[in-house]
Amino acid sequence: MAKPISRARARHVAWRLKRAVPALPGRVRRRTGRRLRDRLLRGGPSDWRTLRDDLAQRYLRGEGIEIGALNIPQRVSPDVRVRYVDHASGDELRRIYAYELSQHNWDLVEPDVVDDGERLTKFADDSVDFVIANHMLEHAEDPIETLNHFLRVLRPSGILFLTLPDARETFDGRRARTTVEHLLRDHREGPEVSRREHYEQWARIIECVPEEQLPERLARFQAEGTRNHFHVWELETFLAFLFALRLPADLVTAHQVDHEFAVILRKNPGKRTWRAWRDLGAEAIPDEDLEPGGLAAREKARVEAMGRDGAGEARDPTEAAR
Ligand SMILES: C[S@@+](CC[C@H](N)C(=O)[O-])C[C@H]1O[C@@H](n2cnc3c(N)ncnc32)[C@H](O)[C@@H]1O
Repeated sequence: MAKPISRARARHVAWRLKRAVPALPGRVRRRTGRRLRDRLLRGGPSDWRTLRDDLAQRYLRGEGIEIGALNIPQRVSPDVRVRYVDHASGDELRRIYAYELSQHNWDLVEPDVVDDGERLTKFADDSVDFVIANHMLEHAEDPIETLNHFLRVLRPSGILFLTLPDARETFDGRRARTTVEHLLRDHREGPEVSRREHYEQWARIIECVPEEQLPERLARFQAEGTRNHFHVWELETFLAFLFALRLPADLVTAHQVDHEFAVILRKNPGKRTWRAWRDLGAEAIPDEDLEPGGLAAREKARVEAMGRDGAGEARDPTEAAR
């Protein structure tokens, strides 16, 4: 039996083939290279960076924003324009991340706009073609409000490009997954209601701070307004959350690779939102939709069935949300 080709070798062969046809337009060349690589690997993108880049090439067009690029700005096609948004200026970010900068050879992105990514106050409604938030939403205290603002600033059919850590594969693994009820409460009553609990989880489970030092650590988090991982998801629980919200957006695709998952949504203002459902008299989100095997699990199966070849568009993206 033939010896299986290594990932590195497959990538190299695809790259050589891609380079061998320089006469083709850039986009066609990149797509051909991607297909060759996926065919050789008999699967989808093999690592998180490749997955992000593939999705960016496939879905990002026009001009948009990236929130919290920090040291890993999303690579995009040359004709795509990105403005960088962060809650702090470059100098403040260098102060906040002084430790990481001293340990790693980080090149920080200088934000073009300093704004709270949870509210995007400096951006008008329907003003950008895409919003990228790579590993930012788990730092948001009120993800429901944040998602609403992401969708607000997007033009109709604009792309919401999200990647988040998947708790199954990260240091958050021992933390309880955030429930939809918790997120609804943070949204309705304000994130202060669970801020202390979030900080406590971080200090206890992630930092393993001894009990007697806990009050001091929590006071420091409070005083500095530390933005660690407030919420914890894995792909399925995140999809359950999205479907529970009934956002005015269609799910385009979702993947999990390495330590993260990626979800691409397309704004669809015509879609019936949760508010509209409630106004129609719907009492609550049916429990079975949040259960394993419910709507979220069915949606995940549907996304997977779209196949990796081209990471397919949904055949009828509204079908499963009805
Ligand atoms: C973990 S880093 C993500 C870095 C990189 N994008 C990645 O994929 O690893 C989180 C980034 O989000 C930014 N951030 C967190 N909360 C924010 C907020 N409310 N508004 C704007 N930026 C925020 C942080 O300053 C930081 O740049």
